Amino acid sequence: PLQLTLAVLKPDAVAHPLVLEAVHETILNNKFLIVRTKELMWRREDSQRFYQEHSGRFFYQRLVEFMASGPMRAYILAHEDAVARWRSLMGPTKVYRARNTAPDSIRGAYGLTDTRNTTHGSDSVASARREIAFFFPEFSESLWYQQD
Ligand code: CMP
Repeated sequence: PLQLTLAVLKPDAVAHPLVLEAVHETILNNKFLIVRTKELMWRREDSQRFYQEHSGRFFYQRLVEFMASGPMRAYILAHEDAVARWRSLMGPTKVYRARNTAPDSIRGAYGLTDTRNTTHGSDSVASARREIAFFFPEFSESLWYQQD
């Protein structure tokens, strides 16, 4: 059965055409179905709202600033086990860990810092549903599943 996840190429990735291209290729090479994709840019309010759960953390301000600093590309991806599969391709959040334990992962290869870490991916099916609605409010999951 197909599962949906939300993947986001963050401003550091979109700012570098070769990184953007490489991550897009990774998506295609791993046989994800691209259900929707769009480029967008957040206002600081969007960034604050999306990362609400991190509002007490030391990195919150820099995260909010960074995510509103330039255009991003968001994808709704479908695959069996899409959530876990995309997270595994991204590698660990922190760049030091990513480079050392998963050098071939997206963050291991392209991550700049713990904040500028190239990509985001939903961490569960429930997060995916919430985050897809945040980025693609016009998208209807139930209608999409009924299409085939
Ligand atoms: P993301 O998967 O989008 O979820 C939360 C984000 O916070 C994370 O990726 C990083 O971009 C950012 N962040 C910055 N510093 C840290 C940190 N020390 N630990 C975890 N996340 C961090």
